[in-house]
Amino acid sequence: MSDMNHRGTGDCARILVVGQGAREHALVWALARSPGARALWVAPGNAGTGMEPRTRNIPIEPHEVDALTGFVRQEHIDLVVIGPEAPLVLGLADRLEAQGTAVIGPRQDTARLEGSKIACKRFCQRHGIPTAPARIHEDPGDALRDVARCLLPVVIKASGLCGGKGVIIATTREEAETAVRKLAQLPGGQEGLLVEECLQGWETSYIVLAQGTTYVPCPSAQDHKRLQDHNRGPNTGGMGAFSPAHRVTAELEERIRHRIIEPTLVALAHSGHPYQGFLYAGIMVDRAGNPHLLEFNCRLGDPEAQVILFRLVDDLRLIFEATVQNRLGEVRWTSGPEAALTAVLAASGYPETSSGSGPIEGLDGPDETPDLKVFHGATRMENGQVVCVGGRVLAVTGRGASLTQARDRVYARIEHLWFAGMQYRKDIGHESANGLPH
Ligand code: AMP
Ligand code: GLY
Repeated sequence: MSDMNHRGTGDCARILVVGQGAREHALVWALARSPGARALWVAPGNAGTGMEPRTRNIPIEPHEVDALTGFVRQEHIDLVVIGPEAPLVLGLADRLEAQGTAVIGPRQDTARLEGSKIACKRFCQRHGIPTAPARIHEDPGDALRDVARCLLPVVIKASGLCGGKGVIIATTREEAETAVRKLAQLPGGQEGLLVEECLQGWETSYIVLAQGTTYVPCPSAQDHKRLQDHNRGPNTGGMGAFSPAHRVTAELEERIRHRIIEPTLVALAHSGHPYQGFLYAGIMVDRAGNPHLLEFNCRLGDPEAQVILFRLVDDLRLIFEATVQNRLGEVRWTSGPEAALTAVLAASGYPETSSGSGPIEGLDGPDETPDLKVFHGATRMENGQVVCVGGRVLAVTGRGASLTQARDRVYARIEHLWFAGMQYRKDIGHESANGLPH
């Protein structure tokens, strides 16, 4: 394994962000505020990223590893920030490092923590990281025999990446058998299945920026995964988020750090796979206040990134520069005292389909203030007009002295936004929407 000191030593002035969602727009927006960011590119970006200062979109998709590495060489890019998981799992970070480019995002072997739920479960079992007990099945027949007699409810998971569709909670034996058959058909399910004990409690997430065993925690943020108000409807990538998440107490944070984050970073470093980038732990907190790991993501969450970055008062470029130069211990991740909240406006058909079209109205409406920002997700510029391309289209993000003030600002702005089929939750940040202990 190469020395992490070789990952980058110069100034990170020319930066490429890989991805196209509102998370990537928030990353670009935060980086563009740094006086030291001389030029920014986004691959492929969206209509919003293309409007940020000193920023250009380039028509290369996140999975086009050869094209991306070639572009980075040609443009003498100093730092690449990888937003989504797919290019990490394809080994984009390894390829960039091999040519001497500094990267925020883990290597392929480490990204398996997200890319393979079987690898992640075995890692937790080996290192004593609290997680739901699970049985691993490479053969769907074995999984079927397992669910024919296991305790109910039970959680069935496909091992590989499934775009958020790889987990089913079954309450009856019939549902469990159907789930096994369904997940075994998915490409991610062909890598194996997990039959896992269903944990009770409430969910949260914890995100850190790590480099080896050094890390800085991001502020707490709470996602809203279900499509509709009062946590109804299908699971999505996230329909809104707020920060800070008041239920994440200092004591809980400490438990998460000591029982989950630190043993993970230490085990990875000791096995010669030091982590570099954002590490996102999805967590279930039980009645006794103990955290259990549901999953790791090797990236910032979307929409958590929008609220976390909106609250950041430090220079993100300098934090990234310190990370790739092995100096993360010298910097801080300081968040402003205000609360931030983001509500996602999604296209009709989301999350089942991610198609959509038509103009978005109201983007030139009320001027954006320092306390409000409309981050773009699935948007594109067509003939000078911003159009929706389906999925999660906009993330309207606001800040306020209180969560209520942030929420009021966000929903007042949404009143002026419209596109055909627009759907959004009206209860982001409401107590009842955060999944009370169950
Ligand atoms: P994952 O992709 O593993 O985070 O799973 C997606 C969602 O499924 C989580 O956010 C939880 O709501 C739920 N989930 C996953 N594993 C479990 C479990 N063992 N017990 C209860 N719920 C779970
Ligand atoms: N919001 C959850 C995720 O990004 O996976």
